[in-house]
Amino acid sequence: MEQKEINLINYALFEEKYKKILITGGLGFIGSALIFRLLKKTNAKIFNIDKLIQKGNSLSVNDQFYNYGKSKYQTINHDLKDNESLEKIFKESDPDIVFHLAAESHVDRSIESPRNFLESNVVGTFNLLENSLNHFNRLPIKRKSNFKFLHISTDEVFGSLGKSGLFNEKSNYKPLSPYSATKAASDHLVDSWFNTFGLPSLVSNCSNNYGPRQFPDKLIPKIIINAINSKPIPIYGNGLNIRDWLFVEDHINALLLMAFKGKPGAHYCIGGGVEKSNINLCKIICNLLDNLKPQQNSYSSLIEFVDDRPGHDFRYGIESKLIFKEIGWKPIFKFDQAIKKTIIWYLKNQDWVDYVMRESGYKGERLGTIN
Ligand code: NAD
Ligand code: DAU
Repeated sequence: MEQKEINLINYALFEEKYKKILITGGLGFIGSALIFRLLKKTNAKIFNIDKLIQKGNSLSVNDQFYNYGKSKYQTINHDLKDNESLEKIFKESDPDIVFHLAAESHVDRSIESPRNFLESNVVGTFNLLENSLNHFNRLPIKRKSNFKFLHISTDEVFGSLGKSGLFNEKSNYKPLSPYSATKAASDHLVDSWFNTFGLPSLVSNCSNNYGPRQFPDKLIPKIIINAINSKPIPIYGNGLNIRDWLFVEDHINALLLMAFKGKPGAHYCIGGGVEKSNINLCKIICNLLDNLKPQQNSYSSLIEFVDDRPGHDFRYGIESKLIFKEIGWKPIFKFDQAIKKTIIWYLKNQDWVDYVMRESGYKGERLGTIN
């Protein structure tokens, strides 16, 4: 695994180009995986803007980042919806590249409280774009020619697929949830900053990620956590909705390659090529748990079909041909191994789960129902 990662990305060359890296949302699931990778593999200085929404997760991850030393890492506690002080943050961090991951990310929560999604995902992206452009325009020629703004987006902006077909870079935008509508709006803002102002931005549209440190309200952690606590595992509707699953470390490979070799103005679709219905995925995880932590009854006896998510997208599936052709990315982690690795991580890190749930106030309740 390690070897393959090294072969895919030339960290020495990466570090030569990008010595100071500004990341937003780095205390979240994908952002923290990106920061761990950069801290482990490079000597770049990382600045991480996060509003600490997942307090427990954030704090524990934060401490681990600081273990690499203050000269390599700094957290900036800031909500991107506030423009004030962003200019100062840019002047102090003086980045060679920006990875923008900060967003409200849960569809169910966007059904409950859409306003937060507009503020973080749309206004937050706008504020970051304005400040990134001012910073870019101030850079000397050589640093300017290397500078990139990477906007980390989702396949959900394309809406929902039927039983056949795949999303690719030519797919029309047709967001169907408040979450995906705000992500789509932010993608359009980013493209317009490229087209109008020449900000060298790129957009990634990625499928569902899984791996360590994903917050317990998302499907895969929820299945694992509920199962080992003998709680019902809620599956929305008939369980036949399909998602395309990608291991988070594969996503990080894609982002690093995009930073290094991606073309400004481009969108890249990133997918795992592992489509599973929710019920099928749930049974796979229950079967693995039956072997890893045997109990009298199979964990699948805990599966409970519950009311569907309002406006539930039926299927996502991604064609990742362009990113392979242009920058040589493809997923390298096998689903069977990576899902097992993920389950084992949750089994070994129940303290983390308790901690983030306690600190965030999330008690495992159903989100996104309409009264
Ligand atoms: P996450 O919810 O785990 O993390 C998001 C982080 O952003 C959190 O730490 C949060 O505190 C921070 N944040 C949110 N709003 C902020 C604001 N206004 N100011 C500062 N910080 C703020 O999400 P994730 O799963 O790691 O997703 C990261 C990004 O990747 C998101 O933009 C999401 O849309 C995108 N994405 C996620 C997936 C997936 O499957 N998880 C797939 C494709 C794309
Ligand atoms: O496709 C990329 C997107 O994937 C990202 O942009 C989002 O940030 C990320 O949260 C994810 O969105 P989904 O809505 O697909 O993920 P979630 O884990 O919430 O749900 C996955 C599927 O499982 C979906 O069809 C709804 C269903 N589900 C979810 C939960 C939480 C259940 O059946 N039961 C549940 O309890």
